[in-house]
Amino acid sequence: MRAAALIVALALASCDSSPEIVFKDASLTLPDDPVDLPEGPGRDAVIENCTACHSPSTMLQQPKVSAEKWESIVGKMKKLYKAPVDDAAVPAIVDYMVHVQSLPEAKP
Ligand code: HEC
Repeated sequence: MRAAALIVALALASCDSSPEIVFKDASLTLPDDPVDLPEGPGRDAVIENCTACHSPSTMLQQPKVSAEKWESIVGKMKKLYKAPVDDAAVPAIVDYMVHVQSLPEAKP
């Protein structure tokens, strides 16, 4: 008799557990890229024209090159990868990239 009561209790207990799948964390975590572009003239131009394809950290991890080289890189983005870069924004982009690469915390 006591065994039967236990079975009923167990059956009730198992009915209690919801069949729904519950995720511990429902929030979606995007790849970790906490790096933000440092303040500086031309920052908006880079955000508007470059960060659609490159993360800020990618932009900051480039080897240090001259302004002329940056100009040619931007040209390459346009020609080769069809980046919709506004011609008027190119000098600002070049200035900004040279600027961030001259910051003390920039990679040599
Ligand atoms: C339409 C997408 C797109 C946009 C917008 C874009 N790029 Fe690129 N970029 C690429 C691709 C694709 C590569 C080659 C693969 C890679 O290195 O990720 C690349 C590579 C690079 C590289 C690596 C070095 C090299 O010469 O290949 C640099 C630096 C770079 N981009 C800078 C920029 C800058 C600065 C801008 C803004 C003016 C920009 N990109 C905008 C697609 C883009």
